[in-house]
Amino acid sequence: MNRENSSLLSVRDLVVRYRTGKHRGAELTAVRNVSLEIEAGNIFALVGESGSGKSSLAQTILRPRTAESGSVLFHGEDLANISKSGMKKARKNIQIVFQDPLASLSPRRTVLQTLTEPLNHFRIGAAADRESRAIAMLETVGLTAEDGNRYPHALSGGQRQRVALARALVVEPELIIADEPLSSLDVRVQAKILDLISDLRDKLSVAFLFVSHDLSVVRQLADTVAVMYLGRIVECAPAGEVFSRPAHPYTRSLLNAVAAPDPRRPAPVVLKGEPPSPLTPPTGCVFHKRCTEMIEPCSSVVPEEIELGEPDGYPPKSKGAINANHRVRCLLWRTPNA
Ligand SMILES: Nc1ncnc2c1ncn2[C@@H]1O[C@H](COP(=O)(O)OP(=O)(O)O)[C@@H](O)[C@H]1O
Ligand code: SF4
Ligand SMILES: [Mg+2]
Repeated sequence: MNRENSSLLSVRDLVVRYRTGKHRGAELTAVRNVSLEIEAGNIFALVGESGSGKSSLAQTILRPRTAESGSVLFHGEDLANISKSGMKKARKNIQIVFQDPLASLSPRRTVLQTLTEPLNHFRIGAAADRESRAIAMLETVGLTAEDGNRYPHALSGGQRQRVALARALVVEPELIIADEPLSSLDVRVQAKILDLISDLRDKLSVAFLFVSHDLSVVRQLADTVAVMYLGRIVECAPAGEVFSRPAHPYTRSLLNAVAAPDPRRPAPVVLKGEPPSPLTPPTGCVFHKRCTEMIEPCSSVVPEEIELGEPDGYPPKSKGAINANHRVRCLLWRTPNA
């Protein structure tokens, strides 16, 4: 096998477009030149307001041929050019958990049938052992063997999301794509599921691409955070960096929207208005119409992605050294001589 790098998943320069509007005559770019790397066993959080392209990106990972351009590599293998058996293996190793477990679980299958179905499909383990394997997984996610006999409608929202996680985990995947898995749950249940995901990652060493519109939700969970705005990743860094030294005004405004004022933090940035339509993106920096820190070139110059780290970049608002692996798209962060 040709392994190009050590990442579990690499997304390179991915572009996702839709034909939309009257007679599908308009073209909308939902994901624009996105690159990211997910390491084995890590939790990679993808955060941004509704409409920023998170689901389009997440869903294209398992159907890369629908992308306009770019590539998705799993263990260094390009999923758009993989053999049929290679794709089947990737589908086992990359599982998806959706926002609404009720919609994603079959109402006519008991919980146990829901869990044994993928074991049968991928022929995992001996047929006689599959039921006990499924029950063991139910217990791992905090459910009981008796819950296995129930149907989805008889479970609470939190229990259903546990079943959805168990169904994804039972085939022992390497990566779970969880697209807003908490947004149909109330806050108390959200906290429990977050704890569960954190435990499972440690226990089963599975990586997550965890999609959320709420930056505060991923604080306790993520190893890496990518912030998406109008189809672009505008900031990507180890989670500690994003929360202690957010470099992009959009990230700062998302944090300010949820955090109590902290005198050690840069001045609050208030997020105004709604994101623009990706059908008519603003010129220059696509965030400029909502950015309270914009400078003169922002309405005409498209910010390149730069890697922060001394001596590159000059920190206009943050204090302290900036780590490598902290990438940002903002004209405030041009190198001093650029
Ligand atoms: N199938 C589709 N056809 C046309 N436009 C779509 C389709 N799916 C998503 N979009 C548009 O693409 C943009 C990104 O949507 P989406 O990926 O769902 O964002 P998010 O998950 O961040 O809310 C939005 O403007 C949305 O309206
Ligand atoms: S490039 Fe300009 S408008 Fe865009 S985020 Fe940076 S300061 Fe704001
Ligand atoms: Mg979405």
